[in-house]
Amino acid sequence: MAEVLVSEAIDEEPLAPLRATHQVLVVPDLWQDAAELRRQLTTARAWIVRNQTRVTAELIAAAPRLEVIGRCGAGLDNIDLAAASEAGVAVVYAPLQNAVSVAELTLALLLALARRLPAMDAATKAGRWDRHAFTGVELYGKTLGIVGLGRIGFLVARRAQALGMRILAHDPHTNPHHPMVLESGAELVELDVLLGRSDAVSCHLPSTDSTRGLFNADRLARFKPGALFLNLARGDVVDEPALIEALRSGRLGGAALDVRAVEPPVPGELERLTNVILTPHVAAFTHEAQQRVVQAVCRDVAAVLAGRPAHQMANRPAARPRRALG
Ligand code: 3PG
Repeated sequence: MAEVLVSEAIDEEPLAPLRATHQVLVVPDLWQDAAELRRQLTTARAWIVRNQTRVTAELIAAAPRLEVIGRCGAGLDNIDLAAASEAGVAVVYAPLQNAVSVAELTLALLLALARRLPAMDAATKAGRWDRHAFTGVELYGKTLGIVGLGRIGFLVARRAQALGMRILAHDPHTNPHHPMVLESGAELVELDVLLGRSDAVSCHLPSTDSTRGLFNADRLARFKPGALFLNLARGDVVDEPALIEALRSGRLGGAALDVRAVEPPVPGELERLTNVILTPHVAAFTHEAQQRVVQAVCRDVAAVLAGRPAHQMANRPAARPRRALG
């Protein structure tokens, strides 16, 4: 039983400062064992997760000493923020620390789609030397549509500019005069305009009530014929059967997906399509990003436990009488 409970596999080196002052327990598979998780939560003052642990109202209620939840990443869709706030539990996270890695994988996948790298690699390793079967397309002079111009979308835009791409962006939460929009070189447009004009569309949206299912059959039909689609954000913003249909019909030229509606997915049609590149939700998995993410979250967890303000809070917890229980 521990004061600081970690219920998923994280990079443990940056935990050292927290370990020096608190009893820390890391159980990489705990998120899969509901009964044991609930038991461990009875003593936890801090609970550190990434995206596989479902931080529900029920589990928060089962943790009477809990003061802070640390989310080692940017997405908050696995955390019941309202329940945490109501229970007086702070939620700290790392909204910026893995953005460069996500942007770099986005560019890697965009280039891999344009030049059909996975198929070419597989064929060459299988003994074929078929130079004419793999003629690709250049990205230079093409248009990239970025849906969601937050930190990651911005970094993708900057990198795509260096390839000589034109950038369109759609984001109702920003405006053309915002410094990030100006520096991104993106032209802000309505979603339908972006879909109709982009040679490749990259999604960088969180999963919310207004984004779930956004890329449905109707929207996929508005893409420029043969366009490429990339999703390194959240799987449930895409209607997978509709995407499969758009890829099979040739409406879309290819897709790269790092995230899926259900993770891990049950292998099916997407896994069989040759114009699709699949990766297992690893955009943030670089040594640098993992170090930064865990360091930032541990620093904020320690701050909250010491009664100091955190740098990156995701909620405004209600005042609570819980510490008296300790
Ligand atoms: C995020 O939300 O930051 C990314 O999806 C990565 O999350 P993970 O590191 O918890 O898998």
